[in-house]
Amino acid sequence: MTPPRVVDLVKPEVRGLVAYRAEEPRSGLVKLDANESPFSLPERIRDELLRVMEEVSVNRYPDPTAGRLRSVLAAEHGVVPGQLVLGNGSDELIQLLLLAVGEVGATVLAPVPTFSMYALIARGQGLRFEGVRLGPRFEPDVPVIIEAIERTHPRVVFLATPNNPTGGVFSEAEILKILAAAPGLVVVDEAYGPYAGRTMLPHLVDQERLIILRTLSKIGLAGLRIGYVVTHSSLVAELEKVRLPFNVNAFSQAAAVVLLFHREWIDANVSEVIRERARMAKRLTAIPGVEVYPSQANFILFRTPHPGNEVFEGLFAEGVLVRNLGSVPDLLNCLRVTVGTEEENERFLAALTKVMQQYEGCEVRGGMKKAEVR
Ligand SMILES: Cc1ncc(COP(=O)(O)O)c(C=O)c1O
Repeated sequence: MTPPRVVDLVKPEVRGLVAYRAEEPRSGLVKLDANESPFSLPERIRDELLRVMEEVSVNRYPDPTAGRLRSVLAAEHGVVPGQLVLGNGSDELIQLLLLAVGEVGATVLAPVPTFSMYALIARGQGLRFEGVRLGPRFEPDVPVIIEAIERTHPRVVFLATPNNPTGGVFSEAEILKILAAAPGLVVVDEAYGPYAGRTMLPHLVDQERLIILRTLSKIGLAGLRIGYVVTHSSLVAELEKVRLPFNVNAFSQAAAVVLLFHREWIDANVSEVIRERARMAKRLTAIPGVEVYPSQANFILFRTPHPGNEVFEGLFAEGVLVRNLGSVPDLLNCLRVTVGTEEENERFLAALTKVMQQYEGCEVRGGMKKAEVR
């Protein structure tokens, strides 16, 4: 008998997936595709950081409990360190949560379109992913979500609020209704929470199945890869059993501690992005034919009246990289732009205006203008 090819040894659930694709860093581009913060470290903070980095013992494993960082984060949120699990980005914690609670065949439910890693990780682990469509303007449709929960009994519900890539939020009352209906865990992913000025943290006290997921990636520290779960210590104890011991490296632990002591810098940048978001949304709305979806995150989703692939390529040719979402169900001709610095946003708006002008005078076919860009 001929031995199987190596790929045939890979689980069918994994072979059926398409890998998450992120753009490689390229210089010279205005990079507005990954919902990062556009602000690099000011010199005074960078110098302080470098001094601390010199002290890191690279020959030793990092603190397996990330004790100092855990304490700093716990104090920030008014919880005890035993309520936190730290991850190599919140991506890793999505994987960890599903590893801990997702028996094969169990259902993971999330309103869609949403962050693609929920479905990717669930399916890779042999779980069933149930996507429940958001409303026509991507607003939450709670009765539909509750109907789906009652039908599928999900082990885990993910609610990203603000949601990526649509930018909308679930109100506190909506989340509580979903919690009341859900038989399993409800993970409220607050990756973009700081840009909406809201959190479900106060509800941890009386909601046993609530898990808050947070990250430092969207508030200026994406390179460190630090995410964390805040929940009840009893669940933390279980999650710790499947967490790999040294998942947060020594440099990231030390750097995050230093940088979180500069909260004023982080908060000022968040405020600046919120201001820019409002300005950008207004300018985008003024471009004829562009449909802008309301956002409380650090990005804006918009739909163009022209083929999204062409608009994406047109922006790229002008040196601006955004996220092309046209292949995602319900997001035909949709692009997502991260809010950058004022200068970057101006470059984006100028590029988009130029690309859109190239269609002027083209005939309109079936409600959509002709495909070629001049
Ligand atoms: C809703 C949401 N959750 C989680 C993440 C993962 O963030 P990270 O792994 O960088 O912490 C992202 C990243 O884009 C996101 O959009």
